[in-house]
Amino acid sequence: MREAGEKIACLTCYDASFALVEDRAGVDLVLIGDSLGMVLHGGTTTTPVSVGDIVYHAKCVAPHLKRGFLVADLPFLSYATLERALDASQRVMQEGGAKMVKLEGGREQAAIVEYLSVRGVPVCAHLGLRPQFVHKMGAMKVQGRDEEAAEEMLHDARILVDAGADLLLLECVPAGLGRRITEQSSVPVIGIGAGPDVDGQILVLHDILNISPMVTVGRRPRFVKNYMVDGADIESAIRAYVREVKSGAYPAPAHCF
Ligand code: KIV
Repeated sequence: MREAGEKIACLTCYDASFALVEDRAGVDLVLIGDSLGMVLHGGTTTTPVSVGDIVYHAKCVAPHLKRGFLVADLPFLSYATLERALDASQRVMQEGGAKMVKLEGGREQAAIVEYLSVRGVPVCAHLGLRPQFVHKMGAMKVQGRDEEAAEEMLHDARILVDAGADLLLLECVPAGLGRRITEQSSVPVIGIGAGPDVDGQILVLHDILNISPMVTVGRRPRFVKNYMVDGADIESAIRAYVREVKSGAYPAPAHCF
């Protein structure tokens, strides 16, 4: 799709009913995100999410995807060592049915990415704002704003791709940095709050349906768009999201940093 210049529409999903709807609506990539700790379990961070949680939700979703490509998060500390990363990947792929795992981090994860990649595990590397690091960072904020931080992220992205990452995900970075990382990358780059000039977009399902705890209490991240405003029903809302990602209408400047 990247080679064909077609934008990749991605969305999180956690159960069978939504898997069927997302697949019908044309979502290209479906993520079992550890955001489930917040939108399903009602937590304030993703820290408590376990490999078992991810496997459970992947098993609910996987059988119902005919076309969507299933990616699953490796949750907090499940890839802290090479062996743990391999065990967690084995579970989400063999038991959960995922076709790719996602982990958070920069160059410090290169050894893990390579270890998994040479053993046949496709890896998505998540850069920029990394929610699993919230207790270390102190707050969820836009990353890579100054030139030094931007250069560091460009360097991280190169190292991760060289280590075998098959996909990059960029969260909350200035649109210009999203474009620069995409231009230099030989693998597709998916953005969430990373501007329009990336290969695809991802959002959290409950955010676009305007029902996640964050949006309910009025803390809507800048990159979130409520697709229920014009959607007659949930499937129409998801179809509108897919259409706007494909056409480039989403993200608009109001959704970018
Ligand atoms: O856990 C998640 O939902 C994510 C986002 C990037 C969508 O990682």
